[in-house]
Amino acid sequence: MPPRAIILDCDPGQDDAVAIFLALASPEELDVLAVTTVGGNVPLALTEANARRVVEAAGASVPVHLGCPRPLLRPLETAEHVHGETGLDGSGLPPPQRPPAPGHAADVIVELVMGRPPGSVTLVPTGPLTNIALALVKEPALAEHLAGIVLMGGAIGLGNITPAAEFNFYVDPHAADIVFRSGVPITMFPLDVTHKVLVTPERLERIDALGTPAARAVAGMLDFYRRHGRTGGAEDGPLHDPCTIAWLIAPELFSGRECHVAIETVSPLGLGRSYVDWWGSGDGPANALVVNEADAEGFFDLLVERLARL
Ligand code: RIB
Ligand code: CA
Repeated sequence: MPPRAIILDCDPGQDDAVAIFLALASPEELDVLAVTTVGGNVPLALTEANARRVVEAAGASVPVHLGCPRPLLRPLETAEHVHGETGLDGSGLPPPQRPPAPGHAADVIVELVMGRPPGSVTLVPTGPLTNIALALVKEPALAEHLAGIVLMGGAIGLGNITPAAEFNFYVDPHAADIVFRSGVPITMFPLDVTHKVLVTPERLERIDALGTPAARAVAGMLDFYRRHGRTGGAEDGPLHDPCTIAWLIAPELFSGRECHVAIETVSPLGLGRSYVDWWGSGDGPANALVVNEADAEGFFDLLVERLARL
């Protein structure tokens, strides 16, 4: 099988950073065409610089593009309380040396996808979905042309930034609504599965013991993150975003169910909530594979094996 072409759209964020490392360490399975960035965990000026820091630390030359600094309608809400003031606290990574690549994320997504055969590019968003929604609106043919969207966001159950909503969908609920109405095949990694992939002290030790610069950066980030990232009732640091990449590499590590998913864009209390019709009680057609089970040990075996390559 040739590697799958992906565009990783993210808001680093320690867990986004681990997703970037894992993707760049897996060239047999994944061809990372570009990394695009969005305001989310921290403002865009930091998420884009953080993405460049991580790509350079991985020894890669993948272009990093800037996208939307704020959601489509709402003001940006960030999460320094989880990720630290830099968004990458604990990494110890130096400032980026290379500049960002020219071209807005939404335009780059359209150009890269439409410039390749239908069904050959997968989008992997791990932050607010603003860039993805903008690209889908700018180019109506994009939805048909995409192979799929593999995203981290939403929740079957309780939220982590409000009682009802997960952070990525809460920050830009209107973008999430556009994505889930687009007809693109979606694989959704909600909190219910990412909270089963926890950074325990033993797993942290396994990563740190690799001793490489990238592994030390990941260990430092995850040490910070496991002390600050236990939102939404998580018993340790949930490694949200890399679940998307791990599924693309080893789908057998996960399982889920095709469901109809709708996004709350009106109720102030429920803004950004993902209504996942897990029991098929509604009549909306399934628009997402909602993943709810993970082999956490298998995930960390994969992560350690791939980090050792960098
Ligand atoms: O709710 C968790 C998600 O929000 C993760 O993607 C994390 O990086 C933040 O973006
Ligand atoms: Ca993220």
